[in-house]
Amino acid sequence: LPRPLPHNEPVLSYASGSPERAALKARLASMAKEQPDVPHVVAGNELRDGAPYEVRAPHDHSLLLATCHDGGAAIATKAIDAALAAAPGWAATPFEERLRIFTRAAELLAGPWRPVLNAATMLGQSKTAYQAEIDAACELIDFLRFNVAYASRLVEQPISPPGISNTLELRPLEGFILAITPFNFTAIAGNLPSACALMGNVVVWKPAENQSLAAYHTMRLFEAAGLPPGVINVVYGNGATVAGTCLARPELAGVHFTGSTTVFQSIWRTVGENVARYRTYPRLVGETGGKDFVFAHTSAEIEALAVGLVRGAFEYQGQKCSAASRAYIPRSIWPKVRDLAVDHIKQIRMGDVTDFRNLMGAVINERAWTRLSGWRERLAGDPKAKILTGDGWSREKGWFAGPTLVELSDPAHPLLAEELFGPVLGVYVYDDSTESGVDAALDLVDRTSPYGLTGAVFARDRAAVAKAGARLRQAAGNFYVNDKPTGAVVGQQPFGGSRASGTNDKAGSAYNLLRWASPRVIKETF
Ligand code: NAD
Ligand code: ALA
Repeated sequence: LPRPLPHNEPVLSYASGSPERAALKARLASMAKEQPDVPHVVAGNELRDGAPYEVRAPHDHSLLLATCHDGGAAIATKAIDAALAAAPGWAATPFEERLRIFTRAAELLAGPWRPVLNAATMLGQSKTAYQAEIDAACELIDFLRFNVAYASRLVEQPISPPGISNTLELRPLEGFILAITPFNFTAIAGNLPSACALMGNVVVWKPAENQSLAAYHTMRLFEAAGLPPGVINVVYGNGATVAGTCLARPELAGVHFTGSTTVFQSIWRTVGENVARYRTYPRLVGETGGKDFVFAHTSAEIEALAVGLVRGAFEYQGQKCSAASRAYIPRSIWPKVRDLAVDHIKQIRMGDVTDFRNLMGAVINERAWTRLSGWRERLAGDPKAKILTGDGWSREKGWFAGPTLVELSDPAHPLLAEELFGPVLGVYVYDDSTESGVDAALDLVDRTSPYGLTGAVFARDRAAVAKAGARLRQAAGNFYVNDKPTGAVVGQQPFGGSRASGTNDKAGSAYNLLRWASPRVIKETF
């Protein structure tokens, strides 16, 4: 029976003195001491094969959080075999029972598991309490609940003339699905394997190395909710090796990927090379990189624009695929926007995320910090770039990258085209004295970068909004008017982009769930 759509999980405030803050602080303190030896989970068994690697807090090098193991081809093979062995039983499990398991996971996460996943996300991925709450708690709960509701509404039965009965049933895909997940969202990491499993599929899940702590607790949550052994099998470690093993198997039925564009393209290429070996054409769903824009019109409300730029670019250290990373601002309003944005940026506190006063934590790891600081050095010596803010860079205690606002005089500057994935916002100031200047700026937004994930337009003039919406139709899968381009809410703004940003199969929606089902039509005459 179609289930009603749920309400979004309310975001808790974690205000000083609140019970949720006390519970979270207690869990942060205990988790900092636990240091689990994280197992691969294969057919419900805990395996610890493979070279060990350490997981440390990005904001505190001295804080060892967990030890994981690089599972490699051997564990990946065991995980595939376990998934295939579980497939018939899971496919035969009544649909209602599958829905019950993931509903139960959502209820556990809304209750006792909330501080667990929030604490793991804060420590392991350096998210503030608020950023963890909207990700690991609310978004994952929403993914689970909305997917259950959408899954119950997917089938539109064909017509049946007199004497004939036509039925459409949604089968799982034949084989196993490889879910590969990124470091930056615990909700995405939990959603990719669970959405496939909800639809009756069996999964090999490869979490990102820097998200291992939260992934470990997410898998424990699914098990606590009653997920049978073998339905989701988790393998930690090197992505290329695990993927290489999975993509070579004839039983590969699909890849549910979120991460960088280059990795998804390499997966697509390998699948192409192997295409004749597969029993069925694998479904490829990938949500990938972004170079998300803010386009302001002369009529924009200045304070809303400045806040949108700062929050969009610097929350979670600019490491959201949706983060504002390039902005096009009219010359007539730029001085006011710039001064306000600089004022706001100067008030940002950055540091250890367990200090609830901090608005920014550290970037994810040394590789990210080195890449970003290399950009910063190049920008500092670039006559076409004027750095307006950017204090706070340091690597001694943790990987801290200061919120960096850069004005660029060259509209073709690489900072306006390439994904940096950090707290660096490039601004190009355009000539808005004529309508053709505005048109030229819209062309730049559309053509400068290969991506098409999120974008925002700030304007009070509705005709300007309509014009930007039409001109930028393909430039963003999630398009915001007078709001920052981050923070999509499941059930409200289904999320995903096209061009180099992905297959746009809208995570947490019926569009996505249908990719994990293979319809069969049965005609009966008696
Ligand atoms: P990443 O591509 O480095 O890693 C993602 C996953 O792929 C990890 O599990 C990693 O181990 C694995 N991997 C790495 N190399 C691989 C290979 N050769 N073959 C197979 N798997 C491999 O990305 P990341 O740093 O974890 O995440 C950041 C990227 O993800 C950014 O580009 C960001 O825009 C993107 N992202 C996109 C969305 C979206 O919805 N469009 C959401 C979140 C993140
Ligand atoms: N759902 C995340 C956002 O919109 C990616 O920021």
